Amino acid sequence: MTNADMGRHWADSAAGWVEHESIFDAIFSPVTDAILAAADVRAGQRVLDVGCGSGTLLAAATVVGATAVGVDISPGMVAAAAARVPAATVLLGDAQTMDLTRDAPGPPFDSVVSRFGVMFFADPVAAFTNLRGVAAGGAQLVFACWRTFAENPMFTLGTTVLAERLDPRPGPPAPDEPGPTAFAGRLRLERLLADAGWASVDVTPLDVVLDYGFDGDDGVEQRLATVLSVTTGRTAREKLQPSLEPGAWAELLDEVRAELRRHLTDGVVRVPAALWLVTARNPT
Ligand SMILES: C[S@@+](CC[C@H](N)C(=O)[O-])C[C@H]1O[C@@H](n2cnc3c(N)ncnc32)[C@H](O)[C@@H]1O
Repeated sequence: MTNADMGRHWADSAAGWVEHESIFDAIFSPVTDAILAAADVRAGQRVLDVGCGSGTLLAAATVVGATAVGVDISPGMVAAAAARVPAATVLLGDAQTMDLTRDAPGPPFDSVVSRFGVMFFADPVAAFTNLRGVAAGGAQLVFACWRTFAENPMFTLGTTVLAERLDPRPGPPAPDEPGPTAFAGRLRLERLLADAGWASVDVTPLDVVLDYGFDGDDGVEQRLATVLSVTTGRTAREKLQPSLEPGAWAELLDEVRAELRRHLTDGVVRVPAALWLVTARNPT
């Protein structure tokens, strides 16, 4: 998939992501905390958030007094981030190819960070080389990404009920292809960061639980909302729902709810997540 194709995918995905921003921020809070702890962003530093989405890390960076710049390929995400974090500069573009020195003029960045925003490049070495080009000497790269599809029920819990009804049925992504699990392979990830010139590369397992019961209930409706807002759910809403008899769509959603209730942990939707926390330094 080219970056332009990926950009179209994320342009279409932005509305659902932004609508459920509060759910994503709640369930991903352990991931955000791990990135912020590793990056140790401070007042006066300049931070670049890659694939910034609706601006969670930008908000955190500006709160501590850093100067924050976000880049994202999706217009809807950029608009949401700019509205949420007026103190940040938010750029629309492809982080693999855009001239960040021209588009984000200023001193080199002290930190380049990302929460799930760097796995979508057609040419990751080119992308991480481009990002290193605007990083200060000694600057750090810190990001979180998914390990394998098989290790992460995030991609299947409840979603399979909808996937089974789609023709063609969506399958797992091909290994190493741009997408959420592109960096599942640790050796490949270490190698491509080294090839992009980053040093002191460290790829550490980050195992967290995504707790959909953050509001104090069982989290079933929150999980259902996010299932319907990402790729398989959107395809089901666009292609399957209009073809069903009245009432059948509601029955199908009840099947998803029943599937989620079969997998509660202590009465709550809690999804284990197998991630990498990645850190590196710009040696030059
Ligand atoms: C899974 S979302 C994560 C968003 C945000 N970082 C968060 O955690 O909420 C991935 C983001 O990467 C962005 N993205 C994908 N390919 C990109 C590219 N080539 N350049 C810049 N952003 C990209 C998407 O538009 C999307 O906002």
